[in-house]
Amino acid sequence: MARITASVFTSHVPAIGAALDLGKTAEPYWQPLFQGYEFSKQWMKDNKPDVIILVFNDHATAFSLDMIPTFAIGTAAQYQPADEGWGPRPVPVVQGHPALAAHIAQSVIQQDFDLTIVNKMDVDHGLTVPLSLMCGQPPADHFAWPCPVIPFAVNVVQYPVPSGQRCFKLGQAIRRAVESFDEDLNVHIWGTGGMSHQLQGPRAGLINRAFDNAFLDKLIADPAAVAAIPHIDYVREAGSEGIELVMWLIARGAMKDIAENPSPVRLRHRFYHVPASNTAVGHLILENT
Ligand code: DHB
Ligand code: FE
Repeated sequence: MARITASVFTSHVPAIGAALDLGKTAEPYWQPLFQGYEFSKQWMKDNKPDVIILVFNDHATAFSLDMIPTFAIGTAAQYQPADEGWGPRPVPVVQGHPALAAHIAQSVIQQDFDLTIVNKMDVDHGLTVPLSLMCGQPPADHFAWPCPVIPFAVNVVQYPVPSGQRCFKLGQAIRRAVESFDEDLNVHIWGTGGMSHQLQGPRAGLINRAFDNAFLDKLIADPAAVAAIPHIDYVREAGSEGIELVMWLIARGAMKDIAENPSPVRLRHRFYHVPASNTAVGHLILENT
């Protein structure tokens, strides 16, 4: 049987990808940020999963405003890094896991969440930057990510966007789907995007450390309370792009349930850093006990 053993939560700022690709990680601006992921890169090596379900948002790259799925699961064998205007990032092609992805689609749709099935999609910084932060730059003689990835795209760009509550329940459905897959796989689920940031309008540059840190506290200890936060509070408190944080609830919902076990998850790593471009960077690693 497949099982979810851990979840990773991280921001996805595109400038982080550029800093990595241009060899700027040791510069004074970036060094403290990358320092926060040193533990995580070692943890990835020590806890290498068989598959990652990577919850992220597309930024009008694969899906234009012509067609906007709320929840979309990648069932393809491969995904190319997207060209976001400066050429594709020099990172490996993402290998998918079509068998597990198709099983999750089957199970989750039968649990009444209507996923869009995506057989071809390029993946932007929303997916490649978290992989780079957690896995580092793959070596030239083995230019590949450490394991297959199932991209799971959520619309947080064009309103209406899904609620945190819906995302949390979807995570619970994904957990049941994984646990009913008839192959012995160690699965990680990642929730990405956020934390507070606003890229537009009079409040551009907004950062809210108090909101972000309360969110991290509660996501660990009382995720059902975080799931109850209405979308207007994310926008008001964490900025228009802070709404990306609802994606973290999918990963958190897929972890063991507090209702079934009083201390179901172990915090392995917590990191928070400002500034990184226009965004407050938050990062957690949780393991199922
Ligand atoms: C930035 C952050 C994002 O989430 C994004 O998608 C684009 C830019 C930024 O901080 O610059
Ligand atoms: Fe973003």
